[in-house]
Amino acid sequence: MRQATVYIDSQALQYNLNRVKQLAPTAKIVSMVKANAYGHGVKDCLAALKYSDAFGVACVEEALEIRELGYTQPITLIEGVFSADEMQSVLAHKLECVVHHQAQLDWLLQHKADYIAQGLKVWVKLNSGMNRLGFKIPEIIDVIHMLKAEGFTCVLTMHFANADGDHALNDQQVAQFLHVKDNCSPILASCCNSAAIYRYPELHFDYVRPGIMLYGATPFAAHNVHTLDLKPVMTLSAEVIALNEIDAGEHVGYGSTFTAEQAMQIAIVSIGYGDGYPRTFVQPNFVAIGTKLTPVLGRVSMDMIAIDVTGLDVELGTQVELWGKHRLVDDVATANGTIGYELLCRLSPRPQRKTTAL
Ligand SMILES: Cc1ncc(COP(=O)(O)O)c(C=O)c1O
Repeated sequence: MRQATVYIDSQALQYNLNRVKQLAPTAKIVSMVKANAYGHGVKDCLAALKYSDAFGVACVEEALEIRELGYTQPITLIEGVFSADEMQSVLAHKLECVVHHQAQLDWLLQHKADYIAQGLKVWVKLNSGMNRLGFKIPEIIDVIHMLKAEGFTCVLTMHFANADGDHALNDQQVAQFLHVKDNCSPILASCCNSAAIYRYPELHFDYVRPGIMLYGATPFAAHNVHTLDLKPVMTLSAEVIALNEIDAGEHVGYGSTFTAEQAMQIAIVSIGYGDGYPRTFVQPNFVAIGTKLTPVLGRVSMDMIAIDVTGLDVELGTQVELWGKHRLVDDVATANGTIGYELLCRLSPRPQRKTTAL
């Protein structure tokens, strides 16, 4: 059996959901569980997130998985439907659509009566400068007036491009959002992802849409999860499967990129890029044994890494934390030149999965 395991801490997930409630007490919470709950496993995460007001997903298939598990909360398709046919699933499973282009409006209007009768809201997306999805000003104002005249309940929505840091576009995005909101009043509103929940308490409005913070990773480059008072949900752990003594001048791994400067003890750990652990690092990388950080040596193989265990109390079977509470996924990501989101989402199915009971 593969000696690599993904542990999901349900209590940590609930703790982080409660942090959202503390930070945004008056807003409803749309927990983002797309991409298999950011790689954590949607089934177990939903159980821990069951007190969310709603869920956010990227496609109909992800929404149907939630319905099949028996959850009845509203589900928002954050990119809307991709074809007229998908409107059948929307109506059959009570899914709420984002609309961000004319064809989606046409498909929605064809099913106006059923959609409204189901009590479904339509999320109208503003492109305020990210230039990914959405209607621009002034078109969006006409779209919303039209939808309201047709009897739809609308939620004005947008997504920040730089909520994680200072950028001139932030003010533009906020100004445009408020302009549309004022011109379409009364209207429900939602613009905050995790970073914006922290950064813009005055913009929480009716719905917040936390993603990464639920999973206990940071949306910010400059703040780690401890300063944000979040708890890491995922631990990626693997066992020591071999121990080697090497002398000064000996090399480790493919390409012999690591050369020992003195005699040392190294451990081989059963994790590699075949499990989703990154292969290339732009900075030195570490793992945790207990609370102690120790370096990864040489190249990451498909199934194994080598680590320095000189002077550490390590034996065959010792558990090594690749990321989790002691070696934060965000720090591994930084060393890898990426963000925690990517490492969490791109784990392979190979490691075993275990979830702590609620
Ligand atoms: C529309 C939308 N809202 C909310 C989120 C959640 O963002 P985060 O994970 O940064 O909280 C995302 C994530 O990609 C998104 O696309």
